[in-house]
Amino acid sequence: MKLAVFASGFGSNFSALLEAEKQKKLSAEIALLICDQPKAKVIERAVNESIPYYCLSPKDFPSKAHFEKQLVQILEEHEIDLIVLAGYMRLIGSTLLEPYRNRIINIHPSLLPAFPGRTSIADAYYANVTESGVTIHYIDEGIDTGPIIYQEVVAKKPDDTLEAFESRIHSVEHAIYPTVLEKIIQEGETNEKTSVN
Ligand code: GRF
Repeated sequence: MKLAVFASGFGSNFSALLEAEKQKKLSAEIALLICDQPKAKVIERAVNESIPYYCLSPKDFPSKAHFEKQLVQILEEHEIDLIVLAGYMRLIGSTLLEPYRNRIINIHPSLLPAFPGRTSIADAYYANVTESGVTIHYIDEGIDTGPIIYQEVVAKKPDDTLEAFESRIHSVEHAIYPTVLEKIIQEGETNEKTSVN
């Protein structure tokens, strides 16, 4: 089972997944990083761990479809089974979605459908919620709308700063992403065996 991680920024989830692979808590190979931001910290993490990476930006292609066609070609060359989005700040279009439908997973720092979009942690914080959380879901055409796989509640304490709240949410992300992915991989393998027998 080969995974490609897509990320645009800091890459703490990418590192958490690599750590889980090293500790044999994730029975998959993180074979590739796809990034769309040349200065992203996540690239440094990939280089340090000798993970092959590609940095591509849609603005260097005539259209989004051309950009995604190139991505599909890379993914096929590397025989990628599953795409794992970890802070990838772009909407997946149909050219990439169709060949990988039900094989693209995302993590989002809120209890969807509450607080979709890019600023969900701050949005929840300033909405004075008493709890928010983390959602892991399949990707569909929409923004943070795909079928939900798993959610975990994270409390917001009355005296939380935004930073403290943010950090609690990220810790939960790092703990649950590898575990949930492992479960998906195991279930996928069980289903394959059942359908062969
Ligand atoms: C995470 O909060 C993730 O849920 C969201 O983007 C953030 C990425 O953080 N989609 P990092 O780059 O993994 O540190």
